[in-house]
Amino acid sequence: MSEARQLPEDELFEVEINGRTCEAREGETVFEVAARQGVEIPVLCHDTRLEPAGACRVCLVEVEGQRRLQPGCAWKVSAGMKITTESDRIEKHRRVLYGLYLADHKLDDAGLPVETANANQLRMLAEKTPPLQLEAVEAPRRGRPEDENPYIKFDPELCILCARCTRYCDEIEAVNAITLAWRGSETTISTAGERGLLDTSCELCGGCIDTCPTGALIEKKAPQILPAHAEKVRSTCNFCGVGCQLDLHVVDGKVAKVTSPPVGETVNDGNLCVKGRFAYDFVHHEDRLTEPLIRREDGELHPASWEEAIEVAAKGLLGVKERHGSDAMGFVSSSRCTVEENYLMQKLSRTAFRTNNIHQCAAT
Ligand code: SF4
Ligand code: SF4
Ligand code: FES
Repeated sequence: MSEARQLPEDELFEVEINGRTCEAREGETVFEVAARQGVEIPVLCHDTRLEPAGACRVCLVEVEGQRRLQPGCAWKVSAGMKITTESDRIEKHRRVLYGLYLADHKLDDAGLPVETANANQLRMLAEKTPPLQLEAVEAPRRGRPEDENPYIKFDPELCILCARCTRYCDEIEAVNAITLAWRGSETTISTAGERGLLDTSCELCGGCIDTCPTGALIEKKAPQILPAHAEKVRSTCNFCGVGCQLDLHVVDGKVAKVTSPPVGETVNDGNLCVKGRFAYDFVHHEDRLTEPLIRREDGELHPASWEEAIEVAAKGLLGVKERHGSDAMGFVSSSRCTVEENYLMQKLSRTAFRTNNIHQCAAT
């Protein structure tokens, strides 16, 4: 539940949500004011990083004076507005709407949207408000030809055409690789000329997977990892110095998938690049060094303890200092290291070896 945040006094006015008076300001939507009050309005096409599209109609609410229900994600509040977010009329609307979505959706044996490696928000909503049972229809949606890209898979039968993916690609990535294509019941998510993603401007950031509310877009590498079957471990990406936070999905002690922490929770605000999201195979690669190695008299590398390895390195460095002086030495650190590690590196250089020849790649 979000805590009330302070708004500038001169912009404040009052609105009423479910009979409770609360403060709002010019430009805020019903969804934003309600969220601040801890009032939950279901959404599917809305992602707080994107401009509201009002596409899915799941968030419809009653606004006094309005004949029709209005989309809470896009409807701007004004002074004195009276809003109702739960009523028989709204519940009936949701049941019919979920029923319509499910009529041409891929369902499991229980008649619910199938679970995928992405949290299926439509499934969660349908579990909360039982959908109206409607006869299943065969939707003639066009699927793009099988895409050869290594990371992203699209299943048109799970798509509700909310356009979160295309809007994310446009508004957050500024890439416009994917688009709503065709018309009417054939409408689907595609690319210009139905090209594979590798032949478009796509950066394979995977943000479209992350924002998709139904699992129609999933990760090819880990389609079978259901959220409930993995332990989530928060970590920091080590591919560059930005410090994006990652959620590692760990199955049987191994990283099986990487996602971004939820929007608004960490510095990367739900976003990741192709490396952070997909390039995790190195973690368990057989070529990785897992213990210190020392080159002995025979010229070969041999496993050693950390104590011995540090001692050998220290002796070697001190030998250079004695023979050639401190300024014959230079230390290079990396933006891939933590702040603490970089601090220790310059401490080692300046204090232990008495030289200011210390550099870090982010300084260039
Ligand atoms: S992976 Fe990123 S760049 Fe490619 S289509 Fe998805 S959002 Fe756009
Ligand atoms: S693929 Fe997902 S995000 Fe894109 S339109 Fe379909 S349901 Fe929405
Ligand atoms: S969440 Fe408001 S219309 Fe989709």
